[in-house]
Amino acid sequence: MNTLTKNALKNVYIETLGCQMNKSDTERILGILSHFGYQKSEEEKADLVIVNTCSIRKLSEDKAYSKLGVWGKMKESNPNLRIGICGCVAQQEKENLLKKFSYIDLVFGTHNIYELPELIKDLEKENPDGIKNRICAIRDIATPEKEFDIIRSKGINAWLPIMEGCNNFCTYCIVPYTRGRERSRDIETILNEAKKIIKEGYKEITLLGQNVDSYGKNLPDDPKYGKPTFAKLLAELDKLDGNFRIRFTTSYPTDITDEVVETVKNAKKICECFHIPMQSGNDRILKTMNRRYNRAQYSEIVNKIRKEIKDVTITSDFIAGFPSETEDEFKDTISAIKELNLDYSNTASYSPRPITPAGKMTDKFIDKNEKKRRLAILNDTVKEASKKSNINSIGKTYEVLVEKIKEDDEKNENKRIVEGRSRNNKVVHFESQTAQIGDFINVQIKEALTWCLKGEEIK
Ligand code: SAH
Ligand code: SF4
Ligand code: F3S
Repeated sequence: MNTLTKNALKNVYIETLGCQMNKSDTERILGILSHFGYQKSEEEKADLVIVNTCSIRKLSEDKAYSKLGVWGKMKESNPNLRIGICGCVAQQEKENLLKKFSYIDLVFGTHNIYELPELIKDLEKENPDGIKNRICAIRDIATPEKEFDIIRSKGINAWLPIMEGCNNFCTYCIVPYTRGRERSRDIETILNEAKKIIKEGYKEITLLGQNVDSYGKNLPDDPKYGKPTFAKLLAELDKLDGNFRIRFTTSYPTDITDEVVETVKNAKKICECFHIPMQSGNDRILKTMNRRYNRAQYSEIVNKIRKEIKDVTITSDFIAGFPSETEDEFKDTISAIKELNLDYSNTASYSPRPITPAGKMTDKFIDKNEKKRRLAILNDTVKEASKKSNINSIGKTYEVLVEKIKEDDEKNENKRIVEGRSRNNKVVHFESQTAQIGDFINVQIKEALTWCLKGEEIK
């Protein structure tokens, strides 16, 4: 594809913050840039550095600014360095970024990735006055995807986006503003990408979407598959040849259909694992968050999944200290984690986001130290829940997909310890002389720690 000689190649480094969707976008951006004379390099050697940002919490946004600060300093001694910012902070802050940071050369939003060929040309343009172009490209509607190579990160897992965007507008969340409205890729495009991934030797495909259950809602009927739905997509992916696993994230509680549960139950390759953020265990808070379910409805879906699918893992996300949350309402979150036996949960204290309705409830904000206190209690509860869930695995035999071989050093008692994941996403360690990365190995679980399991290889 590339007609430039190797010497003419420029180096690009992308720092990726935020969720898996950003990781996947980075792989696509690197792929597009590879068609235009750029090769992936280390940060120190780069001619172009880009930070792919997240703005889910203020802390994530601050990380982007601190990275830019470091690069701004680097530019003082290397004026040819070009600095770019993309992702959710770029989509949110737009041209303000060029105004605020004089050393930034390129800003592009989450909807502009496939416009990069033109943006790069503009960026590299030699002006008669010698002044370099500074570019900002933000759209409200995404440019359609085009076929480019994807430079995937190495390992056993490949990210595969199936839909992007969100129509839910939970009152605390910035994502609908940074990722736009829900849109799905068609079944054939996804199946072809999955086939390529398998051919390249990846052993696990993780389907990505802000709400995977909304898959297909904006698509017309497919001539081959009829109305595209998430269940249909899963079933088609499960039919593909090869020895690999399929995972998916994220599910919206009340949008998980019986067909999806049934498909996961009957599938061979789809892992028994659902990530279903609950956010709060209290009905009033859920309503104020604009979540479309109450505690009873969330419990019902969790119980249904557990009843139907053996050894299923259910994980969640929770926010501590949402505006106006009382102590009793917070305690409902703690009791929900215990009552529902949630295997693991991500936690965060509420962070006000610009534009969002909850961000404007300033008179109802919870004191910073109080949020910290609640978060610590929440984290302790998640820790206990994880240990309890892991103890339930003792005696079971799991098929483990090997991800890492640990050093046989003193820390590991001079043993060759292998790390992998079970189908239900538990981290499992075991000793093996032969296991290689990418192998599927049956392991009997002997011991449960808080965040991982230890077992013995079954030969
Ligand atoms: N699409 C997923 C997750 C999106 S963001 C869903 O529907 O739940 C990932 C997690 O970040 C959310 O589940 C939520 O728990 C957390 N989050 C989002 N906005 C936040 C905020 N303003 N403060 C703290 N946590 C937040
Ligand atoms: Fe954010 Fe809610 Fe959409 Fe998830 S469903 S991305 S939490 S608005
Ligand atoms: Fe962050 Fe954007 Fe993902 S806000 S969590 S990078 S969709």
